[in-house]
Amino acid sequence: MLQIFPDSIAIAEHVSNILIDRIRNKPDVVLGLATGGTMEPIYEQFVLKVRRQGVDVSRLTSFNLDEYVGLAPDHPKSYAAYMHQHLFRHLAFDASRLHLPDGLAPDLSQHSKEYALQLQQAGGIELQLLGVGSNGHIGFNEPGTSFDSTCHVVQLSERTRRDNSRFFEGNAIVPAHAITMGMAEIMQAREIVLVATGEAKAQIIAEWYQKEVTEAIPFTVLKRHPRARILLDEAAAGLLPDHVQRTLLAIPA
Ligand code: F6R
Repeated sequence: MLQIFPDSIAIAEHVSNILIDRIRNKPDVVLGLATGGTMEPIYEQFVLKVRRQGVDVSRLTSFNLDEYVGLAPDHPKSYAAYMHQHLFRHLAFDASRLHLPDGLAPDLSQHSKEYALQLQQAGGIELQLLGVGSNGHIGFNEPGTSFDSTCHVVQLSERTRRDNSRFFEGNAIVPAHAITMGMAEIMQAREIVLVATGEAKAQIIAEWYQKEVTEAIPFTVLKRHPRARILLDEAAAGLLPDHVQRTLLAIPA
């Protein structure tokens, strides 16, 4: 389930092709979307290809994994703003089908239940895109989160807040809480593509490779998923054993 690509551009090529293929096969597909630095080249490639190939994205539905608590959708550092900037504003999506948790919901635990229900009513996720935190989190499910968890409010770990401070310049402070899809919802996706790029992910990728499935490293759960793939660039694969690196180097299509 691991595949290594030369760099993040090659991964973006590959993942954008997968997305377009799934949309062509099923125009009303339900996609699970992620934010973060890893996804930026992927969305950029996707937008270019959709335009070039005239793909109809107006019938697809999307559910984002997470949102910071306390940030309004128009706050520049919210994940809603990220999605707008990198993807939604560039293509003819139907805005009523694009879902993100609401970081300003007055009752966050009620809102989590409603988000989980909306997702269920949409039939669950067909294809889930994931990045991974340097501590192994997926969505904002931090180490130790139960694999049975559904959409919920989390306290972000210091490590995650430090990692994400690169997106919050100046005096802006990384929020302490977020609302995230749970591990159970992620695992219910029919297909999962996790992407890890850059040296900063090499350590956690090596741990994933060595360890059994454990809640201490949330994304190890993907070993139990029948259709999950992990796509790495050479930098993220850099601490895997040499023979593994050699065998898994993908031949670009
Ligand atoms: C973002 C998300 C997170 C990120 C992860 C990696 O919606 O769910 O799990 O995918 O923190 O972030 P980057 O890509 O910025 O290294």
